[in-house]
Amino acid sequence: MNKVIEVENLTKRYGNLTALNKFSFSVKEGEIFGLLGPNGSGKTTAINSILGLLKINEGKIQIFGKQMQPDAYDIKKDIGVILQNVAVFDSLTVYENIDYFCGLYVANKETRKKLVNEAIKVVGLEKYKTFTPPKLSGGLLRRLNIACGIAHKPKLLFLDEPTVAVDPQSRNNILESIKKLNQQGTTIIYTTHYMEEVEFLCDRVLIIDHGKSVAEGTVEQLKKQATIDEKIEVEFDEIAENKIAKIKKLPNVKDVLVEPQKITIYFAKENQNMTKLLELLKKEDIKANAVNLQKPTLNDVFLEITGRELRD
Ligand SMILES: Nc1ncnc2c1ncn2[C@@H]1O[C@H](COP(=O)(O)OP(=O)(O)OP(=O)(O)O)[C@@H](O)[C@H]1O
Ligand SMILES: [Mg+2]
Repeated sequence: MNKVIEVENLTKRYGNLTALNKFSFSVKEGEIFGLLGPNGSGKTTAINSILGLLKINEGKIQIFGKQMQPDAYDIKKDIGVILQNVAVFDSLTVYENIDYFCGLYVANKETRKKLVNEAIKVVGLEKYKTFTPPKLSGGLLRRLNIACGIAHKPKLLFLDEPTVAVDPQSRNNILESIKKLNQQGTTIIYTTHYMEEVEFLCDRVLIIDHGKSVAEGTVEQLKKQATIDEKIEVEFDEIAENKIAKIKKLPNVKDVLVEPQKITIYFAKENQNMTKLLELLKKEDIKANAVNLQKPTLNDVFLEITGRELRD
């Protein structure tokens, strides 16, 4: 498979702050590649550096096998960009905005008409064609922003946290649209700090923290890195201290988090953890209101590597 993006040892400093530190990764043709990291980890800096919008300190960036440069227009014509901050014209309608951005790439009016209407359909803005941005909700505005970035049918699409501060309906629409574009052949780079989005969308993921790659692989591969196997939450009205002590002594228990009316038990990789827990609850007559089992998430992986949560 062809490498569409190849980044090697990318370093970007803002004054004394090193935002990206020898950062390397590559993206293959046809992938949805996720850049997952908490606020300030360097996601936007990475995207903007790759796009040639920032002057980098060190490193090599290739797109479509060619050296990326600020004036590499032959590369840029096949790229779509949806930046973190919405950038549209308030005085133009939804249709006119998309037509404007599409017009930067496509001169023919008839071709453009078709492309603009297709983009409107992809993001589901058919009913809002004549609205101006100030009349749109945050979610619809994001969808307009996306339509502006995809209308010219780029081969490679960058999306920087497109679902932040978006209502659930628009969020679903956005995620589904991205899947659709990918199925039509677009290679996608997607940044987010929501692990659920990465799990839903991405073929491969890179977890970034303090400008460095801390883990990379498919979602399944990353989850296998977690040393906990499962997390079981038990909810109850009350529980005696000595009973908690007995739960802590169950085989394979790595850690127990005690909260009012809830305990969370972290088990090491082994079969039968749930069965053994349920047997104990019965034997000790511990009246549980709910018992929930959770498999490891990407947040657990991040937590184990960095000691912090993905979300603040
Ligand atoms: N123009 C700038 N000047 C100085 N420091 C900056 C600038 N842009 C970003 N930074 C700093 O660089 C680091 C990486 O920021 P960046 O915006 O790339 O992170 P991010 O992962 O995109 O975060 P978020 O999830 O909040 O969008 C942060 O510490 C940030 O404060
Ligand atoms: Mg950002």
